[in-house]
Amino acid sequence: MTHVTEAPVAAIPVVDISAVGASDTPLQQIMRLARRHGPVFRRRLHGVDRLFVTSLDLVTELADEERFTKHVGPALENVREFTADGLFTAYNHEANWAKAHDILLPAFALGSMRAYHPAMLRVARRLTGSWDARLAEGGPVDVPEDMTRMTLDTIGLAGFGYDFESFARDEPHPFVGAMVRCLDWSMNKLGRDPDADHSAEDAAFRADAAFLAGVVDDVIAARTATGEQRTDDLLGLMLGAPHPADGTTLDAANIRNQVITFLIAGHETTSGALSFALHHLLKDPVALRLAQRETDELWGDAEDPEPTFEDIGRLRWIRQVLNEALRLWPTAAAFAREAREDTLLGGRYPLRAGEGVTVLTPLLHRDPVWGDNPELFDPTRFAPEAEAARSPHAYKPFGTGERACIGRQFALHEATMLLGLLVHRYRFLDTTDYRLRVKETLTLKPDGFTLSLARRTAAD
Ligand code: HEM
Repeated sequence: MTHVTEAPVAAIPVVDISAVGASDTPLQQIMRLARRHGPVFRRRLHGVDRLFVTSLDLVTELADEERFTKHVGPALENVREFTADGLFTAYNHEANWAKAHDILLPAFALGSMRAYHPAMLRVARRLTGSWDARLAEGGPVDVPEDMTRMTLDTIGLAGFGYDFESFARDEPHPFVGAMVRCLDWSMNKLGRDPDADHSAEDAAFRADAAFLAGVVDDVIAARTATGEQRTDDLLGLMLGAPHPADGTTLDAANIRNQVITFLIAGHETTSGALSFALHHLLKDPVALRLAQRETDELWGDAEDPEPTFEDIGRLRWIRQVLNEALRLWPTAAAFAREAREDTLLGGRYPLRAGEGVTVLTPLLHRDPVWGDNPELFDPTRFAPEAEAARSPHAYKPFGTGERACIGRQFALHEATMLLGLLVHRYRFLDTTDYRLRVKETLTLKPDGFTLSLARRTAAD
């Protein structure tokens, strides 16, 4: 039972779910509340209120950088326990945000992807090698697990010259388990019953966070041991590059926080995006056929195509497939904003300066601007003419403004190439009649998604 009242001051509906409690899929719980009470409402849980918005007009306003900025809300406060002032979780006013942003930005320009392309391809080949072996054994592949192997190895090698060797392990690298538990702790702490004892969970979290810090120290030590002064990857820039304006470099504590931030932010969400895209391709033979045709035009029937950097920009349909997968299930599913000064949102909802407002991205992505059937997977929504006709604020899987995702091009280059190679090489068989369940560990993944494969033949 939920209890709805009109808050007298704010005139924003307050939805109290304390009697129900938080679910283990809190985002999907909030999506259900938003469908009933949106486009703007406060959710009350154990006496704590959070404000959510879902509609294009209100998000357009929140995207105005003159009036609003990023808010480090309760979820990110929890993540700060293990990433501190790394780029993702830094407060706007922390000097290290602007400093690290300025130093690292050149590493994320589209042209920089050319430098990462060979490492991305190398890891993509590890994945197809592993899938070929699984196919020969006759077993299905665990999609989210293997996408995570792929994206972790890619950010490790391309960003840090460090090899997690995930495909040489029967189980994922222990970094992944510790990271998922830390993210899960951050999410579950939001819905805690204040009267319960959480000391065991907190102790387990501290052990996992210490483990992550240890991995980061290994990554840094592996580089410093070589004595190399590189500036062609993220770690090289973090360790050595001077700030363009004042010539200072990042301090040791901040470098640690950046490395852990990039190892997490640089793989977890891309892995989920690829997994959702594969799910949709499995369920949509027409979209899959178009994707295969696109890769066949580029690579013919080559057994092991050698995608060039330029090829990835030519995989336009596959990019549309990824965009559409991220529309339906944006894997970092919310971001928060705050007003710079007291204001009225939508001309009617009073907001105090600094008060957090969470944008519920999956519902923004189902706003009426997306048409009558927003649940339908339809990559033609991202055809250039359709995109040009739509507000840029209708689509925000990478957040907004100056705190938007720095790794967007990295993620899209990596994911487009991998998806291209996979559809070119395999037929996907829906032997289990998989029904989508979305698992939440602060980020989103298809739960229990396995896939059976066959090699494509000239006739396919
Ligand atoms: C920020 C999503 C991939 C690094 C963000 C934000 C979102 C996001 C929504 C803004 C968060 C906020 O406003 O609080 C995604 C998605 C990805 C992806 C959906 C993949 C599909 C990556 C990759 C990297 C990365 C590959 C690094 C290689 C970061 C960093 C920030 C960020 C460092 C913080 C930027 C700042 O505040 O200056 N991402 N991301 N992300 N992302 Fe990503």
